[in-house]
Amino acid sequence: MKKKKRVGILTSGGDSPGMNAAIRAAARNCLYHGFEPYGIFRGFEGLIEDDMRLLESSSVSDILYKGGTILRTARSLKFMTPYGMELALENLKKHEIEDVIVIGGDGSFKGGIALSDKGINVMAIPGTIDNDLAYTDYTIGFDTAVSTVTSALGNVRDTSSSHERATIVEVMGRKCGDIAIYAGLASGAESVLVPEIPFDMEDICRRVTQGRKRGKLHNLIIKAEGVEIDSWELAERISTRTGMETKVVVLGYIQRGGTPTVNDRIMAAKMAGKAVSIISLGKERNQAIGIKNGSIFSVPLADAVAEENTIKEDEMLLIDILNT
Ligand code: F6P
Repeated sequence: MKKKKRVGILTSGGDSPGMNAAIRAAARNCLYHGFEPYGIFRGFEGLIEDDMRLLESSSVSDILYKGGTILRTARSLKFMTPYGMELALENLKKHEIEDVIVIGGDGSFKGGIALSDKGINVMAIPGTIDNDLAYTDYTIGFDTAVSTVTSALGNVRDTSSSHERATIVEVMGRKCGDIAIYAGLASGAESVLVPEIPFDMEDICRRVTQGRKRGKLHNLIIKAEGVEIDSWELAERISTRTGMETKVVVLGYIQRGGTPTVNDRIMAAKMAGKAVSIISLGKERNQAIGIKNGSIFSVPLADAVAEENTIKEDEMLLIDILNT
């Protein structure tokens, strides 16, 4: 009897809500096409340590609505060493896996490229709350993270107004300000500070003072973690210059967990479906799946990583217009 094709599935880097939905969709699409889905645990680390097993349909039951990743995740430094790669390839060979679906962000895509350079066919699905992959409009988990941040901002706004305070809400995003920008648009925050644009103390203080003059009780400042000033130092400087008491809230990992939104679940289902269908057609290899203007597409993995992120200028302008 002809052996079934085995397809490895792994999640890597920072987890994101919707990764489980993508794992489920990848596994079930594999079964639909007559492949054997192989769950690889703790990202590329699982390849090195031979931590992988066959998945059945029931292995991915009841995970669609769960945050995190049942395959767990890691940022593997060992995988980037020649010895780590050698072990990973040996284990893949042992299990007769020639195709691997990698769900993760920029670093995971680079890991995928390293694997594809050694002859493994890699399909990459963007799963990161940061939305920092320029080739695609959205990454799985971003929508959920923005919703979580927006809901937290609503709570902060209530208490901020009661006490007539300014509040800096620090959100994730070391290099990319998308969470800050979209949450800013959704919440009506007075200032949005992103790592891509040098912060302007004058402008932040002007907005605080102007808000006060207009009778605003609160002032919300969303600051991405990658902005070059420490949040507490910024708070100190704002209150010294404007006289408005300024507090800091760091949302941290709260924004990386939680049940995925409808959008993230649907995107996960479609992207994983596309990845497996490319494998089954067998024409293209080493592709990254994305979404542009509502359509799911694929590009060569190397091109996806090469594309530079640009600041969302239209959205920044809109924030400005809406907050004056
Ligand atoms: O998942 C991406 C991200 O959330 C970044 O925004 C953040 O800087 C980073 O991961 C932190 O991840 P960890 O602390 O788990 O390494």
